[in-house]
Amino acid sequence: MQALKGTHDILPSEVYKWDYMESVIRDVCARYGYKEIRTPIIEATELFQRGIGDSTDVVSKEMYTFLDRGNRSVTLRPENTASAVRAFLEHKLYADQQVHKMFYIGSMFRYDRPQAGRYREFHQFGLEVLGASSPLADAEVIAMACEIFHKLGLKDLDLHINSIGDKNCRPAYRQKLIDFFMPKVDQLCDDCKERLLKNPLRILDCKEEGCKAASVGAPVITDYLCEDCNTKFEAVKKYLTALGIDYTVDPKLVRGLDYYTNTAFEIQYPPLGAQSAVCGGGRYDGLVEEMGGPSTPGIGFAIGLERLLLALEMQNLIPVPQSAHKVYIASLGQDAVIEGIKIQHLLRSEGVIAEMDLQDKSLKGQMKQAGKSKADFAIIIGSNELEEKAVTVKNMNNGEQKQVPFDNVAEYIPSALKNN
Ligand code: HAM
Repeated sequence: MQALKGTHDILPSEVYKWDYMESVIRDVCARYGYKEIRTPIIEATELFQRGIGDSTDVVSKEMYTFLDRGNRSVTLRPENTASAVRAFLEHKLYADQQVHKMFYIGSMFRYDRPQAGRYREFHQFGLEVLGASSPLADAEVIAMACEIFHKLGLKDLDLHINSIGDKNCRPAYRQKLIDFFMPKVDQLCDDCKERLLKNPLRILDCKEEGCKAASVGAPVITDYLCEDCNTKFEAVKKYLTALGIDYTVDPKLVRGLDYYTNTAFEIQYPPLGAQSAVCGGGRYDGLVEEMGGPSTPGIGFAIGLERLLLALEMQNLIPVPQSAHKVYIASLGQDAVIEGIKIQHLLRSEGVIAEMDLQDKSLKGQMKQAGKSKADFAIIIGSNELEEKAVTVKNMNNGEQKQVPFDNVAEYIPSALKNN
């Protein structure tokens, strides 16, 4: 049996890398005042159809959707923004009229062609700010993404930003794009031919050579922004500059989900090649209303943790964890084993990492295991020790041995570990 295509195991020997990324992320979130939200991995399909948009690739081609045993259409979440907004509405978090800043870490599912940096089950860290219309919020979330990469030591990232306007100015731009691409429709890939009338902005970031060529000279959204959108975009740029954050304005950055308005951004790590976007996000001021709630502005982003991990490994930035201090209890004979498990239990309740043989190994085999497991001390219990009611404690680093009465072991070992 093998894990499904596009999914992977994170083995015990690898988990420290994930713990490390998550600890840096959690620390930055705490300092910026973001609280964690955990939503179900599975939701009603309609949530994503309405939230992300039927015409997006994610919804039309990539969702893991099936009927449950009650004949309801359900979907494994392909992203977490729609679910966070659903939770915000369901629990009436908007009632206090405050700004809600939340983050999440978890698995997402998209049925796409797997390749390096693209998986069917992948993990995102993401955050959402609901209730903040000020461009300060846009600058804050972008700054926060940059701060996370900075804390991790990651270099050579490119921040691309754009404004994709709002419901006032985007329709005119959309029409301009349709007018521009219509005469070139034969040059477009099949997907973009379909996008032309449904979602022409998406043609701009299609990776197919024909579409790229057809896009040369296409009208750019920044020329069509209404005054309000333009003022907001200028403010975001001003705040980013004030924070010393370098960015490139990329008028072709449109993002693949329908809910975006105004600011859209991506952070790329070019050495990752085709899947270079490690972070993507933007503002979605219409989404809460679209999902039946009160008009509430929103902005957020998500970082793909597999891609982040690849980037960190390429730059050798994951610290190998210090091996924790521990003891190994080696015992010979049933009576010694019973003393051993009692001591093991006591030590564990004192906070010491203690382990014993679970494979009926010989004493020699147990001592070998103590060495292999990099124990600092071995506690040996044989017939002499039973008679003396004192264990032999062997310092595995220098070989020194010492007798310690059974009753004193729980006191002796923690301080010996500390001083070792
Ligand atoms: P997204 O651009 O679809 O945005 O995904 C965000 C990030 O997740 C990408 O930049 C990438 O690093 C990672 N990612 C996406 N798909 C895959 C995949 N198949 N395999 C590996 N990594 C992947 C969203 O999901 C939005 N919900 C972000 C957001 C939050 N916007 C506002 N708030």
